Amino acid sequence: MSDASGQGGRGREKFAAVKGMNDLLPPQIETWQFLERTARDMFGTWGYSEVRTPILEDTGLFVRSVGEVTDIVSKEMYTFTDKGDRSVTMRPENTAPAVRAYLEHGFAQQPVTRWYYLGPMFRYERMKTGRYRQFYQLGAEAYGAGDASQDVENIALAHAYLKAIGVQHVTLHLNSLGDAADRPRYLEALKAHFAPHVPGFSEAAKDTFERNTMRLLDSKEEALRPLVEAAPRVGDFLGEAAARHFDEVKALLSTLGIPFVVDPRLVRGLDYYTRTTFEFVYEPPAGDSALGTAGTVCGGGRYDDLVRQLGGPDKPAVGFAMGLDRLVLLLEALGKRPARRPLLFVATMDGALKAEAVKLVTELRLAGLCVDFDPRGGKVKRQIERASALAARYFAVYGEREHQARTLTLKALDLPDGDPGKETQVGLDGLEDWLRRQ
Ligand code: HAM
Repeated sequence: MSDASGQGGRGREKFAAVKGMNDLLPPQIETWQFLERTARDMFGTWGYSEVRTPILEDTGLFVRSVGEVTDIVSKEMYTFTDKGDRSVTMRPENTAPAVRAYLEHGFAQQPVTRWYYLGPMFRYERMKTGRYRQFYQLGAEAYGAGDASQDVENIALAHAYLKAIGVQHVTLHLNSLGDAADRPRYLEALKAHFAPHVPGFSEAAKDTFERNTMRLLDSKEEALRPLVEAAPRVGDFLGEAAARHFDEVKALLSTLGIPFVVDPRLVRGLDYYTRTTFEFVYEPPAGDSALGTAGTVCGGGRYDDLVRQLGGPDKPAVGFAMGLDRLVLLLEALGKRPARRPLLFVATMDGALKAEAVKLVTELRLAGLCVDFDPRGGKVKRQIERASALAARYFAVYGEREHQARTLTLKALDLPDGDPGKETQVGLDGLEDWLRRQ
């Protein structure tokens, strides 16, 4: 056991964050907050209410919904037995927990329910750029409407959000997996396609073939790739109702001016999908590798059977989740960091006047203005350095002269977007208004 207390044992051992789990720190945290703020504003406007469900859920919830033979459930879950001898899992995704809460609290009695969530998910994955073991999703789920306009509203929200935060080169990929009733015919064709090759398969692939053939389509095994490429496409096996629904989705997307490409190989790696599936994929110009191979920034689709499978009534549903870590990487690569900069930095003098200066800073902060000072005080030159490091727009000394005259001399700091060196005299009484106008 390691010992962080410094008392006995290996007291000086240094700890690092668990592999695949990141500290989110300043200044990058500003980008996270920007994404979260924009989401709360926008998702609320679109009629989605926030829900916060626990990190831990009954393991069976994910086995039953995401599917036993998926990578997520078979390889990637953080599952353990708690002190009450229950098997619990740190949520690898939040569609199933949201449905669990939706049913548990009687929301299924409402005609339509729209929810969003923001928070950490956990998957024990092989790490690389944009793929972590603790990562953050922004998701939106709509229950109760099977109409194509609900699919499109949900997709349009994802599209609008990605546009609002300013990411570029993101393409919407769209497919339909048909209804449960269409699945047997497709599975039969898929089995016939793979069957002759099964003797040469790895043990894992043989197992997937037997237990959930469709999941071979998202296998990461290189050797399977040509076979997967040549496999029958689910879109060719849609029943009449699912085909009509898909046509309506495409037509409505066009009406809203949302471009998409139909991607017949888009089956998604979770078992609960029916009909529409979609992903927004970052497809940058050559040479850009901000996301490496982790280019999918959003994935979702319809899951019309899940509510019933989890013990509820017949309630169609559709939703998506975005990977916030990936969106942060994209915005950082574009150099978009919405920084919170002090408008004014007040240099304080040591002694009795310091209290007056701190009082002024506090009053301006209470008025909602971003104003700062250095509690260490000291030489004015050093305080200017501190103000510059914080990228403050104006700098002012609060000394005896300023106190007597009740006037500050505000100096624009030497910043690219400023007016360096410019000085303005502003009376203390009018300071708040003056700052507000800047
Ligand atoms: P998913 O495709 O597994 O879908 O994940 C959605 C998004 O989460 C991915 O497109 C990606 O951006 C991000 N993501 C997934 N795994 C990682 C990781 N290890 N590191 C960083 N980002 C990651 C779902 O989770 C479904 N629940 C989406 C949904 C909602 N379907 C219907 N409603």
